[in-house]
Amino acid sequence: MPLKPRTAALAILCALAPFATIPAALAAPASEPIQPIPAARIGNPAAVELGKMLFFDPRLSKSGFISCNSCHNLSMGGSDNLKSSIGHGWQKGPINAPTVLNSRFNLAQFWDGRAADLKAQAGGPIANPGEMAYSHELAVNTVKTIPGYRSAFRKAFGSDEVNIDRLTQAIASFEETLVTPDSRFDRWLKGDKKALSAEELAGYKLFKDSGCVACHNGPAVGGNSYQKMGVVEAYTASSPAEGRVAVTGKDADRFNFKVPTLRNVELTYPYFHDGAANTLAEAVDTMGRVQLGRKFSAEENARIVAFLKTLTGKQPSFGLPALPPSADATPRPQPFN
Ligand code: HEC
Ligand code: HEC
Repeated sequence: MPLKPRTAALAILCALAPFATIPAALAAPASEPIQPIPAARIGNPAAVELGKMLFFDPRLSKSGFISCNSCHNLSMGGSDNLKSSIGHGWQKGPINAPTVLNSRFNLAQFWDGRAADLKAQAGGPIANPGEMAYSHELAVNTVKTIPGYRSAFRKAFGSDEVNIDRLTQAIASFEETLVTPDSRFDRWLKGDKKALSAEELAGYKLFKDSGCVACHNGPAVGGNSYQKMGVVEAYTASSPAEGRVAVTGKDADRFNFKVPTLRNVELTYPYFHDGAANTLAEAVDTMGRVQLGRKFSAEENARIVAFLKTLTGKQPSFGLPALPPSADATPRPQPFN
């Protein structure tokens, strides 16, 4: 048995440096820059159900026509697939609507991170004149008058008091459940080596080797840092937004945006905060040039796009919530003023 001592020595070496010599395709998930999306944890099911109703309820808007789901359509990857959203009175929004899917993994909410978490975020659009054009007071007063809601608040919070704190908490609880586990890429990460084609794997390798993972990493493949748009080459945006500087006031943060998640990116076109890239091929080409100073060939681009499409996970699925009817005292919608 002359080989035996050598085999033993190799085994010791491998144990000392478990991942150093293992090719990426065989490595354990812990060594990958991207981790699988964990399944949803549901703490308060009654609050989730209430939040689901509120998410779909257009009576939180002045027009009685715009709900959260209007711009974050859960049948379309949690986005509206528009360059910029349409708000109250058909107003043009200033910025592309990000997906609400997997938003719980974001370090903060909005492109510039101005809301600390989902609860803080949820109050924004209701009172934004360019979005739902209501006020917190009017939204609370509307919901209060609806008996079906009062009993749902009792189930969720122990009493039927309706206030903005509870209302936004319920919406946030529902959003916490909007995760998309079990994408083909996650199945591959968990060890199903047949889950990806050779081209998709080559795309992932290029995504890692060319440096995309420096910013797009973690379970959401993004959402965990602010980065400059236009690191190597300036990016000319078609939106006036300047990013993180709006929050910090620091010049160094001009044009820093929250790195978007790339989960379900196949569904959430158009891309970038200004919605300027219509296709994934275009977005990948721009990222290569402005962030990395690299011009991908058509084959390389197609490979990365093939990889990105493996990030589409299991979409949230549930019965449409039945919304309780308005009562006589419920304020009526004002769609045209
Ligand atoms: C008129 C369209 C519109 C409506 C209605 C709307 N949103 Fe948004 N939403 C947007 C846009 C646009 C942004 C990005 C704004 C920004 O970053 O400045 C956004 C951002 C968000 C984000 C942050 C996601 C991220 O990655 O940063 C969440 C979460 C969200 N909205 C949830 C909601 C909820 C909950 C409601 C209902 C209460 C709602 N939205 C109603 C358009 C809309
Ligand atoms: C230096 C950090 C950084 C690097 C490196 C980087 N990105 Fe990005 N990526 C961003 C930021 C920031 C945005 C948002 C920019 C904006 O909207 O103005 C973004 C946006 C995107 C989007 C659009 C997502 C959406 O929903 O709008 C895609 C797709 C994307 N990146 C893919 C890639 C690929 C592929 C690579 C490698 C070739 C890459 N990125 C490299 C930071 C980075």
